[in-house]
Amino acid sequence: MNKTKIDVMPLLFPHPTVMVGVDVNGKPDFVTVAWATIACGTPPWMAIALNRVRHSLKGVRENMVFSVNIPNTALVKETDYCGIATGAKTDKAKDCNFKVFYGEIAGAPFIEQCPVNIGCTAEHILKLGSHYLIAGPIKEILVSEDCMTYGKPDAGKIDPIVYMTYPAGTYNKVGEFLGPAFRIGKEIKDVKDDWERQLAK
Ligand SMILES: Cc1cc2nc3c(=O)[nH]c(=O)nc-3n(C[C@H](O)[C@H](O)[C@H](O)COP(=O)(O)O)c2cc1C
Repeated sequence: MNKTKIDVMPLLFPHPTVMVGVDVNGKPDFVTVAWATIACGTPPWMAIALNRVRHSLKGVRENMVFSVNIPNTALVKETDYCGIATGAKTDKAKDCNFKVFYGEIAGAPFIEQCPVNIGCTAEHILKLGSHYLIAGPIKEILVSEDCMTYGKPDAGKIDPIVYMTYPAGTYNKVGEFLGPAFRIGKEIKDVKDDWERQLAK
């Protein structure tokens, strides 16, 4: 197969699209972040990458906490707005008519309209270059009741926004079902997965 070698860049597909919440000088600011991930399973940690110029970074440093709000596709305009406007110049929560509330973590504001709200403390702020990697344990998760199935958050009901950086920078809905995770691979060879290996011990 022919391949084209391209310049190195921060390339990964697809990205989640979340709005990170922090209080800056006592006022909530929400910043759209695509570079967000689970960083550890036990204990559960999140990590986000924030550019050094972000107004919101001040809030992380101020309080050493942050929230991760997962919007649904109905909030695509608000999500984009929080990725364009800066909290240094305008009150994004007010502009977007967000109902802001706080959970257990002071300084980490939640957006009521988002079906999932995650509160984290910031244990590490690691300077990598243009961006700081901020990582810390998840302390609290709130999920809208209508987005739960059998006591678990249901991604289909949450209807999150997928972000595709290239070619044009687009927001997308989650795509089609391809197969059951941890099972369809067994059609290649019926091996035991990590969980089954632990049980067999
Ligand atoms: C789809 C999208 C994803 C973004 N992802 C990130 C990101 O992962 N990290 C980051 O620092 N900025 C990201 N940005 C840019 C910030 O959201 C944007 O600069 C914002 O206006 C900063 O707000 P603040 O100045 O209030 O912190 C993203 C913007 C958009 C539209």
